[in-house]
Amino acid sequence: MPDRIYTVPAGRQMALQEKWSYYQTLTESMLRVLVDQSDTPQLLYDSMTYSLFAGGKRLRPALCLATSEMLDGTATEALKAACALEMIHTYSLIHDDLPAMDNDDMRRGKPSCHKAFGEGNAILAGDGLLTLACMTLGQSSNLKVINIVTRGALDMVSGQSLDLNGKQDAETLFSIHEKKTGALIRASILAGAYSAGANAKQVQLLTEFADHFGMLFQITDDILDVTGTPELLGKTPGKDKAENKVTFVTLYGMDVAMEEASHAADAALESLRELNLDSSFLEELTLYTRNRSW
Ligand code: IPE
Ligand code: IPE
Ligand code: MG
Ligand code: MG
Ligand code: MG
Repeated sequence: MPDRIYTVPAGRQMALQEKWSYYQTLTESMLRVLVDQSDTPQLLYDSMTYSLFAGGKRLRPALCLATSEMLDGTATEALKAACALEMIHTYSLIHDDLPAMDNDDMRRGKPSCHKAFGEGNAILAGDGLLTLACMTLGQSSNLKVINIVTRGALDMVSGQSLDLNGKQDAETLFSIHEKKTGALIRASILAGAYSAGANAKQVQLLTEFADHFGMLFQITDDILDVTGTPELLGKTPGKDKAENKVTFVTLYGMDVAMEEASHAADAALESLRELNLDSSFLEELTLYTRNRSW
């Protein structure tokens, strides 16, 4: 694979959606190669690919690849991390939907993995994706990338544990969001940064951006649980209230949740401005996420 695959034809500005689908295509072709080389029994392969190619937004790969590109990094390193992150994220969704967790029947517009393959196979599909993500990371020689992605994966599990067992108060809500969703988003942005050799100041500003963006993303996920439609979301709305989850909406109501989302978006944009780089993709993605409907 060539090192520089980000190149846009001269004189062309790619719009958010066009660039995002470009990152999606890159990620999906590499993911296909990785699972096809995984040497797993047919049923495990089928259950892993069922969820992996069910049509997720590929947000984390886009964050990783866009950050690397913004810092003039090469794509080979960032793409491995992007694929590992998407596999970890997909495994987290498969397990999140299990009856023992959120008990969700629909994901990415299709029956959840356990609905299609049974609970045992869904647990193994998640295990398989996590392990394949680790093998993919193992091909990297950049220890900072390996460390940030595996740290993010463990923090996500900590967040899921708090979500499952946590207290219904404001302090817990913040740590749940910061960990269950923020951790993999931070890992995505910093993996892109480290793979491009970011300096300390850039890492600091990108960490700030990532933390605001992660909060924005989970608050809007909480909002969409109330306002979203199954057709657009590809998952069942109304689950947070039904499952007694602590979210910005269940704890503070819709108006405060909307205000918090706006604050997080503004703070994210401010961190990007301080970077003083061409961060147009990440800026547009932040504005889009503030008003997203899926
Ligand atoms: C859903 O993530 C779970 C959260 C962390 C909020 P996404 O909204 O990114 O799900 P996909 O990848 O597009 O399916
Ligand atoms: C899930 O949070 C976060 C992870 C899967 C780590 P949610 O439970 O809110 O995600 P959705 O709403 O089911 O996608
Ligand atoms: Mg959950
Ligand atoms: Mg859930
Ligand atoms: Mg949710």
